[in-house]
This record gives sequence, structure tokens and C-alpha cells, in this order.
Amino acid sequence: MDTQEALRRPDTLSSQEQEIDDAATIARDIETLFRPRWHVAGHIDQLAAPGAYLTFALGDREAVIRRTADGHVHAFYNVCPHRGSLLCEGRTGVASPRAIMCPYHGWTFEPADGALMKAPYMHDDFDLAGWRLYPVHADVWRGLVLVSFADERPASLADAVDADALDGFDGSGWKLATFTSDDVPAAWRTVFESEGATGESAHSWQPGSTIVVGPDRVRVQVSRPTGAGTTVTDQYWLIRDEPTGREAGA
Ligand code: FES
Repeated sequence: MDTQEALRRPDTLSSQEQEIDDAATIARDIETLFRPRWHVAGHIDQLAAPGAYLTFALGDREAVIRRTADGHVHAFYNVCPHRGSLLCEGRTGVASPRAIMCPYHGWTFEPADGALMKAPYMHDDFDLAGWRLYPVHADVWRGLVLVSFADERPASLADAVDADALDGFDGSGWKLATFTSDDVPAAWRTVFESEGATGESAHSWQPGSTIVVGPDRVRVQVSRPTGAGTTVTDQYWLIRDEPTGREAGA
């Protein structure tokens, strides 16, 4: 059952009496409807600086996504395998481009494959090869940085998108103008239903994710449930990297 189907089911519509917001239901929804999919975690602009990273949370999982010097994007669970410390803080940031270092005991990981390179204070025969960061799927599609916590890598988003509806949009030629993130105290079905009722001409290329393509700007919206029963909605506003003829008054 996908999220659109879940929204249509009479017994899952947003009714307080139907107790659709209980923690077990939301946890199941996260696991079955959201975890197997790609999610937009940011725009490639945000990973331009050496060592720049993005983080993205879904339920109780969080990923850290980075681009290495060779241009590839890699993602790992944002948790140290030693004692579970958070590796990178905030939605965006800049760390060393050469390594991912845990702030707690200084374990240091290779940024492309997550292999443990250094483990200070461990005994001499400590086996570095037995430890590494836990990988998460990552991709870049039309300038949008994607992440997925699925067990198996999901099919390319290109297969799920109506290219005509996007009117040729390719975000890799655009710049990120504004990013907002709101945590709304409402269950995801309630939020999704109200978004569907706005009548806005948005291409829903994935449940919970929409893109509105205009001539000079694009809005990408990504909504998802949290484990606390609220709904996080991220919005990315992209503008053209170069002025169009119309903007220049031509
Ligand atoms: S928790 Fe990360 S190095 Fe110890």
C-alpha cells in the first residue's frame, strides 16, 4: 500500500475518533511507506564546499550526506558505531573534507566508504577493519540530493517522474535561494490532506514530495512524519543560476 492509497482508505482518514495518530501506527507508516523511498535531503549547491554536509532525519533514523573530492555523494547513518554519538550536528555544516571524525572519542572514518581509519585510546591490537560507518543510499537527481533508508537501493527517481510535468527542469543549473523547515504538530495524514486541498498546481512526483516549476523559480516540498507524531515539511526555493532574458528586460 502506498501513501496515496493509505490516504484514501476510509479507516485511515484524519479523524480523531479513528485514532490514526497513535505512535504504533505512525511508526508502521514510517517503516512501510516512507523508509523504502527516496527523499530530497537538499540541493547540490549545499555540498559545494569541501567537507560540506547535509543531515536528514526520518523517524528515529538520521543520515549525514557528503560529497567527496571526486564529486560522488555518500551517505551514512549519522551515528558513531563506537558508542552511538552523533557525528555531525545541524541540518547543514562543514567538516574536514578528508575525514569524518566523531567528536566524542575521536574515531575517524574515511569519507567515501566509511572505513575506520583511526581509533585513539584503543589497545594496540585493536582491529580497525572490524568497524565502519553504516551506509545509507544516496543519489543526485536533477541537482537534488536524495537519500533513502531502504534495505535495497530504490529504483532511480527518474523512473517515477513525469518529465513533461517538470517542463525540462534540471536543478543542477539552478541555485538554492531559500530553505525552510517546519515541524507541524499534526499527523502526516492531516498535513497531506490539507496540502492536497490547496489546489496548488504541483507535480507530486512522490507521496509527500511535490515540485512546482515556474519560469524563474522552483519550489520543492518534502513532508514526512516524525516519531513524535508531528510532521516535518522542508521547502527549497530554487532560482536560475543565470538571469533569463526576461529578467534582464530583453
Ligand atoms: S562514540 Fe564516537 S568515538 Fe566514541
